Amino acid sequence: MSAEEKQVVNRRVLSGMRPTGKLHIGHYVGALQNWTRLQNDYDCFFFVADWHALTTDYADTSRVKGNILEMAFDWLAAGLDPEKATIFIQSHVPQHAELHLLLSMMTPLGWLERVPTYKEQRENLKEKDLGTYGFLGYPVLMTSDILMYQAGFVPVGADQVAHVEITREIARRFNQFYWLDGERRYTLDRTLAEEKRVWVFPEPQPLLTPAAKLPGTDGRKMSKSYGNSILLSDPEVEVRKKLKTMVTDPARIRRTDAGNPDICPVGDLHKIFSSAEKMAEVREGCTTAGIGCIQCKGWVADNIVTVLNPIQERRRKYEENPKLAWDILEAGSARARVAADATLVEVRESMRMSLGYPAPEKSAE
Ligand code: TRP
Ligand code: SF4
Repeated sequence: MSAEEKQVVNRRVLSGMRPTGKLHIGHYVGALQNWTRLQNDYDCFFFVADWHALTTDYADTSRVKGNILEMAFDWLAAGLDPEKATIFIQSHVPQHAELHLLLSMMTPLGWLERVPTYKEQRENLKEKDLGTYGFLGYPVLMTSDILMYQAGFVPVGADQVAHVEITREIARRFNQFYWLDGERRYTLDRTLAEEKRVWVFPEPQPLLTPAAKLPGTDGRKMSKSYGNSILLSDPEVEVRKKLKTMVTDPARIRRTDAGNPDICPVGDLHKIFSSAEKMAEVREGCTTAGIGCIQCKGWVADNIVTVLNPIQERRRKYEENPKLAWDILEAGSARARVAADATLVEVRESMRMSLGYPAPEKSAE
């Protein structure tokens, strides 16, 4: 298969998340919901990026395993289906480490230093020492995750697009140095007239997850570290309680003041969780002071709870029997190892470093 053909028929999708424990509704609308759709139409690999967690949190690893499990509960609860997608743990597929090492040899330092998140995070996370080899090499690890499965598509949020771009650059660089021999054509005097190169790595495309603006209860971006999240596993009373304290349009001080849902974080939630009809009702009621914020928050809570109910129903099974989720991750990891090995055979062969006894160079005659 030529590079172009490989690209055309490529239905592999790969994406991952760091194990942060329980997920919030932002993770759902920003990624998981999209993954559950993709698994129906593509050959999907979804993995828990536990090694990636070490790039910033290497000092305290006590919560990694528990976080993997909690996140797996949420993935399965959200509808990821091990019959459709391969769901696995990065560190259970050590092949990622081998590919990471090989790619690290040919990745120019300047490319890594120029990744926008590199400088940003080093400055923002001052309390951690991120002057490490592993942190600088994080995009190479991510590249290995993606190329390991020769994925054509990588669903990510806008913050990860630069990393997929560097993946494409590293793939291109590898393909310049190494390739598999395709069909060879010889002229009558048996000199090589034309050589077909088969690239090991396709250049993956980012699939940008439509970034819904999902504010937390304090109006900032929903994020676990801000403590402003509504979790996928929050019971109904908790969801309603959190919404009651959620900030609104600051111009609506009294019930009789008109407001504007476009500058209200609750309005942003309505845009994601409510129907067009409900949204029209919110707009009308808010801008004329016809409804109160308490009522408006009740409406959006109803809709969030409706989304969460079936998710929590599915989650219960795994909470009661966590081993079920672990077994799914282990079975997925076994499948991932098979796919990873197939790639590594090609990688080693293209680099003329396959594991067999070195055959003597074939002479031209
Ligand atoms: N870097 C991603 C994040 O922090 C997680 C990740 C690791 C990933 N490897 C990946 C995402 C490969 C997509 C593809 O969210
Ligand atoms: Fe926000 Fe709703 Fe109150 Fe308007 S009525 S300010 S949209 S909470």
